[in-house]
This record gives sequence, structure tokens and C-alpha cells, in this order.
Amino acid sequence: MKFSPARAGILCLVLLLTLAVASGWAQETRPLKGMVKELVIKRGFTPEALQCIECHSKKSPGIVAGWKDGRMSHAGISCYDCHVVDKSSPMASQCEGLKGTNTFISPMVSSKTCSRCHPTEVDQFLKSGHAKLASKAVMDPSKAGGKLVKLQFHYEGFAKWEGLNLTWNTGTPKGIKPYMLGSRASGCQMCHGTTVELGPDNKPVNNTWPGGVGTRYPDGSVGTCTVCHERHTFSIADARKPEACGACHLGPDHPNIEIYQESKHGQLYAVKGEEWKYDSPPGAWEPGDYLAPTCATCHMSGIGDLHTTHNVQERLKWDLMHKKSVVRSGERGNGEKGGPIMRKVCANCHSATHVKTQEKTLELAVQLYNKYWEGATKMKKELAAKGLLGKDPWNDGFQELEYYLWHHTGRRARQGAAMNAPDYAHWHGFFQVFQVYQDMENIYKQRLKTGKIEEVSTVVSSAPY
Ligand code: HEC
Ligand code: HEC
Ligand code: HEC
Ligand code: HEC
Ligand code: HEC
Ligand code: HEC
Ligand code: HEC
Ligand code: HEC
Repeated sequence: MKFSPARAGILCLVLLLTLAVASGWAQETRPLKGMVKELVIKRGFTPEALQCIECHSKKSPGIVAGWKDGRMSHAGISCYDCHVVDKSSPMASQCEGLKGTNTFISPMVSSKTCSRCHPTEVDQFLKSGHAKLASKAVMDPSKAGGKLVKLQFHYEGFAKWEGLNLTWNTGTPKGIKPYMLGSRASGCQMCHGTTVELGPDNKPVNNTWPGGVGTRYPDGSVGTCTVCHERHTFSIADARKPEACGACHLGPDHPNIEIYQESKHGQLYAVKGEEWKYDSPPGAWEPGDYLAPTCATCHMSGIGDLHTTHNVQERLKWDLMHKKSVVRSGERGNGEKGGPIMRKVCANCHSATHVKTQEKTLELAVQLYNKYWEGATKMKKELAAKGLLGKDPWNDGFQELEYYLWHHTGRRARQGAAMNAPDYAHWHGFFQVFQVYQDMENIYKQRLKTGKIEEVSTVVSSAPY
């Protein structure tokens, strides 16, 4: 369908109706949740907004089609609201259709733009690991003693074998060869986000955009909401499905979508999920609309007397991703509070006995895993004291295995136990945890016996963990 001003008129009418409906929902469902929602709307379509839509429906019909499908277009929110920036913005540029006018745009749109109308969601999001912590892992040279930035360029980027001695304070190392960015740009950055760098025309350079959930924008803002609400439909129904998370939460080191598929919940989603209802209004998506939870149900959505949250830390007790599992605190949330909130989710569908058992199963798995971690740390300390530990952790058999112990096998064991996937808890988890540990122990003993670091160390240890 071509866009026309007459249709714009209809859309403005729809905006009013939608608002009436929205406030109806608010009265029915929000007061129970004890949270005041703010939704700020300032305008419908102006002639300036219409010109973007008209021209782009010819130049980029795919984008306009997605936008038309979404609820926001029906509420009169258009390209203009999200992409137009002040001339003084560091990201300001002009597209072909705007040259010579006073209107400036940016292809980059951060959570700050959304916060004009959705302040609650953005506030919560910014407190979560999905915001600053996510990109820190990829762009901060001080994170993990510089090991991660080194990984992206020195090793994966082939700089080591080119004999290029790169140094970095922030951002992309100076003097780097373009192909050395290939790993960051296609991998880490697309899930985590990195810092967007701009050229003289205010357009992104060094392949630092687009990026993942914690992308840092040139105006200091953080976060890309489209990782779950894909553009340009921005649907909540899609975000409630596990596929919205599975794009990043997968693979050998955090197989959350695989874990879900293996769980009873995922089994029900696979056989019955198509019949479930996903488009209930915010805060009113309850058991009955679905029979088993998706990722969003447990980690984000309102259910029973819990309100929706965009802070994915809010319902977590343990840190199940780092070397040692501890109760979350500080920048990782508040585990003492988070644990009971998660268990409230389960109580909507399970008995108190069942909920307690599952809580205990996770605790036992955490204690068991930590035993291995403590043992590994003890061996490592002893090796270091005797000068039997390689200087470069990415090139030392013992330390490579140590990495697999916590980062791959140990995460699978812990997260499989947390989310009810016996195959990940066991065969991909504890079974391999013990094997890696035993291999580490053998290397440790060998080094103590011979008093030196074995020469083919890394070849021996590059097991398919
Ligand atoms: C609700 C806000 C919103 C609206 C409305 C919106 N966009 Fe976007 N758009 C975004 C976001 C968010 C991104 C991703 C930006 C990022 O990753 O930094 C994006 C990305 C883009 C991109 C670059 C990515 C690509 O695939 O090439 C273009 C071009 C674009 N939008 C055009 C449009 C046009 C044309 C319209 C109107 C039909 C529109 N947008 C409406 C928020 C919006
Ligand atoms: C007369 C046609 C026309 C008009 C009017 C127009 N655009 Fe564009 N726009 C284009 C073309 C052509 C491109 C280049 C498409 C491409 O990059 O392939 C573009 C590119 C863009 C991009 C992507 C820029 C980039 O660097 O990736 C955005 C965002 C955008 N336009 C937004 C808007 C907004 C917002 C408006 C209204 C204020 C608007 N456009 C008005 C034709 C137009
Ligand atoms: C100018 C105000 C405005 C801006 C800017 C804006 N939104 Fe919205 N948004 C709205 C309104 C109004 C609605 C309610 C639409 C309805 O349900 O009728 C809405 C609804 C939504 C929904 C629910 C859609 C559904 O399926 O029910 C999502 C998700 C959303 N917005 C995400 C975003 C994101 C992400 C951004 C930033 C990239 C953004 N919005 C920017 C006004 C805005
Ligand atoms: C674009 C990639 C991406 C998508 C999509 C995504 N995540 Fe994440 N998520 C990450 C990254 C990266 C981290 C690690 C953040 C860090 O460095 O602490 C993370 C961390 C988390 C954490 C731990 C948070 C913390 O602070 O320790 C939870 C829980 C989580 N995600 C749940 C979800 C759920 C549920 C969904 C879907 C509704 C989802 N994620 C979608 C990339 C993503
Ligand atoms: C497929 C998406 C994806 C890719 C690619 C990816 N990560 Fe992650 N990363 C995640 C997710 C999801 C988590 C959260 C894991 C969890 O909760 O167990 C995570 C967790 C982390 C963490 C622990 C969280 C923290 O902030 O301390 C670090 C560090 C990390 N990743 C660094 C990297 C680096 C560096 C790269 C590239 C060399 C990379 N990741 C590639 C998705 C990804
Ligand atoms: C990790 C995935 C994820 C990310 C990232 C995300 N959302 Fe959401 N969002 C969801 C889910 C899931 C829902 C549906 C919650 C429910 O069931 O009510 C939702 C719902 C919404 C709604 C509807 C109102 C509500 O509270 O339910 C708005 C508006 C919204 N998101 C805006 C945003 C904005 C703005 C951002 C960026 C700061 C963002 N979202 C980032 C997953 C995400
Ligand atoms: C039945 C509810 C449930 C479902 C469904 C679920 N999770 Fe979880 N998730 C949990 C529980 C419980 C924990 C551990 C909470 C704690 O720390 O006490 C957890 C932990 C996590 C963590 C670990 C955070 C860390 O410390 O590293 C991530 C990441 C995660 N879930 C992502 C997902 C994703 C992605 C999906 C969907 C593919 C999903 N979850 C489905 C309940 C669920
Ligand atoms: C929306 C309802 C719902 C929620 C919420 C929910 N579950 Fe379930 N769960 C189910 C259903 C349905 C089954 C399948 C029962 C069967 O085996 O027939 C199930 C099965 C399970 C099983 C398989 C073992 C068994 O036979 O009982 C475990 C373990 C489990 N859930 C744990 C949890 C945990 C832990 C939480 C909260 C973090 C949770 N569930 C939240 C509905 C739910």
C-alpha cells in the first residue's frame, strides 16, 4: 500500500483510540502491580514526518513495511521521531533526501531516544548487565587484565603472527590493519556492543556499528533496544518468544536456548507454543495465555503479582557466568532479593514443594562446581609459586583448560541445573567438568615431577570442550 496524507489522518485517529484502550488496560491490570507507568506522547504526523515515509516507502520499502506492521506506526510514531537529531548532535548527518534542508538525521538510535517516551523501561534496562557491563567486556582494555581486547586483535585478529605489536587505551588500536577488525566486528560486538567511532562525516567507522545490546553511542548514551524488539515492528509479542534471546544466548559457553529446548518448558513450547497468545497488553500476559514459561516469562514479564522488568538481573540469585559462583551483589544485582523473586515466578505453576526442590538443586550444583573451581585455583597458585605457569594464559595448556573449566563446561553445568536441562547439567556439564579437571591435574602433576612446562602443552590441551 502506498502512503498518503489521507491514511495519515486515519492513523492519527487510531492514535487517539489506542490511547483510550491503553488507559483501559492500565486501570484493569496495573494497580495490582504497584507501579506507575509513564507514556509520554507529544505529536502525530507532521508534513516533515510524512516526507520521510513517502520517500522511504520507495527507497527502502522493507523498512517502511516493518514499521507499518508495528503498533507504534498506528500510534503516529514515525521515522522522524526516532531518527531526526539536532544539528549539533555528534551523530548528525543528512541523507540524500534531506540535503539542503535544516533537518538532520542519524542511522544510529540508542535507548536515549526511546527514553523520551518509555522512561521506565529504559531506566530498568540501564541498571541491567545488558547495558554498560555488556560492552565493557568488549571495549574496555582494563577488563580481565587486558586479556579480552588482546584476544580480539592480537590473537583472533592475526596481529601476533604479523609481528604487529598493538597497543590500546580505548577503542580501536591505532595502526591496526582493517582485516584485524574482522573478528570483533562479526562476533563479540554483534552480541555485546562496542564503542561507536565516527568519521568526519559523523558516520560510523572501523566497523563499530551496528552492534549488540550494550552498544555505546557517540553522544554518551548506551544500549540498543532492537536486539529483542527487532526493527521496525518493535513487537512485544516477538520479544516474549525464546528466539528473541536465542540469537545471543546460545553456543558452547552459554547454551541457554539449547537448555530451554531440552527443558520440559521448551518441550511444551515446541509442541503447543503456536497455539499460545503472545500479544496480551504489557503486564497482562499470564498463565492461560501460555502453559509453560518462555525466557521472558521467567526473567522479564509481569506474572501474578510481579511487574514486568527490563532489568534482567532483578530475578537472579547466583552469578552463574564467572569463575566462582557467588550470590550476586554490587554491579551484578542483589541476589538475596533476586532469588525469592524468581521463585515467585515458578509458584504460579508449581507447588511450594516443587519450587523448594528446584531452588535446592541449583544450590547443590553451584556448591559442587565451586569445589572444582577451588581445587583448580589451588593447583594454579602452586604452579605459579614454583615458576611452572606460562606467562600468556592463551598459550599455556594448564590455563587453557582452566578457561574451559569455568567458561564452557562449568557454565553449562550450572546453567543446565538452573533451567532444568539434565543433558546440559550432566553430559555437556559435570561429566566434562570432571574430565577437564582431571586433565588439569595431570598437567599439574607432570610439571611438579619434571620441574618444567611441557613443550606441546597447548596441542595436548586443545580438546573439543
Ligand atoms: C521507534 C523508533 C524508530 C522508528 C519509528 C523508526 N526507526 Fe529506523 N531505526 C531505529 C533503531 C533503534 C534502529 C537501529 C539503530 C542502531 O542500531 O543504532 C534503526 C535503524 C534504521 C536504519 C539503519 C539500519 C538499516 O537496516 O539500514 C535505517 C535506514 C532506518 N532505521 C530507517 C527508518 C525509516 C525510513 C523509518 C520510517 C519508516 C524508521 N527508520 C522508523 C528506530 C526507529
Ligand atoms: C526524497 C527522498 C528522501 C527523503 C524525503 C528522506 N530520505 Fe532518508 N534516505 C533517502 C535515501 C535515498 C537514502 C539512502 C539509502 C541508502 O543508504 O541506501 C536515505 C537514507 C536514510 C537513512 C540511513 C542513513 C545512513 O547513513 O545509513 C536514514 C536513517 C534516513 N534516511 C532517515 C530519513 C528521515 C528520518 C527522513 C525524514 C526527516 C528522511 N530520511 C527523508 C531518501 C530520503
Ligand atoms: C515519540 C514517542 C515514542 C518514541 C520515541 C518511542 N516510542 Fe515506543 N511506543 C510509543 C507509543 C505511543 C506506543 C504505544 C503504541 C500502542 O500500543 O498503541 C509505543 C509502544 C512501544 C512498544 C510496544 C509495542 C507492542 O507490540 O505493543 C515497544 C516494544 C516500543 N514502543 C519500543 C520502543 C523503542 C525500542 C523505542 C526506541 C527505539 C521507542 N519505542 C520509541 C511511543 C514512542
Ligand atoms: C544481542 C544479544 C543479546 C540478546 C538478544 C539477549 N541478550 Fe541477554 N545478555 C547478552 C550479553 C552480551 C550478556 C552479558 C552481559 C555482561 O557482560 O554482563 C547478557 C546477559 C544476560 C543475563 C545476565 C545479566 C547480568 O547482568 O548478569 C540475563 C539473565 C539475560 N542476558 C537474559 C536475556 C533474556 C531473557 C533475553 C531475551 C528476552 C536476552 N537476554 C537477550 C546478550 C543478549
Ligand atoms: C553469540 C553472542 C556472543 C558473542 C559472539 C560473544 N559473547 Fe560474550 N557473552 C554473551 C552472552 C549471552 C553472555 C552472558 C553469559 C552468561 O550469562 O552465562 C556473555 C558473557 C561474556 C562475558 C562475561 C560477562 C562479563 O561482563 O564479565 C565476557 C567477559 C564476554 N562475554 C566477553 C566476550 C568477548 C571478548 C567476545 C569476543 C571475543 C564475546 N564475549 C563474544 C554473548 C556473546
Ligand atoms: C532482553 C530483551 C529486551 C530488550 C533488550 C528490550 N526489551 Fe522491551 N520488552 C521485552 C519483553 C520480553 C517485553 C514484554 C514484557 C511483557 O511480557 O509484558 C518488552 C516490552 C516492552 C514494552 C511494552 C511495555 C512493557 O513494559 O511491557 C516497551 C515500551 C519496551 N519493551 C521498550 C523497550 C525499550 C525502550 C528498550 C531499550 C531500552 C527495550 N524495550 C529493550 C524485551 C526486551
Ligand atoms: C523456568 C524459568 C526460566 C526460563 C524459562 C528460562 N530461565 Fe534463565 N534462569 C532461570 C533461573 C531460575 C536462573 C538462575 C537464577 C538464580 O541465579 O537463582 C536462570 C539463569 C539464567 C542466566 C544466567 C545468568 C548468569 O548468572 O550467568 C541466563 C543468561 C539466562 N537464565 C537466560 C535465559 C534465556 C536466554 C532463556 C530462554 C532461552 C531462559 N533463561 C529461560 C529461569 C529460567
Ligand atoms: C507458566 C507455568 C510455569 C512456570 C511459571 C514454571 N513452570 Fe516449570 N513446568 C510447567 C509445566 C506445564 C511443566 C511440565 C509438567 C509435566 O511434566 O507435565 C513444567 C515442568 C518443570 C520441570 C520438569 C520436572 C517436572 O516434571 O516437574 C521443572 C524442573 C520445572 N518445571 C521447574 C520450574 C522452575 C524452577 C520454575 C521457575 C523458575 C518454573 N518451572 C516455572 C509450567 C511452569
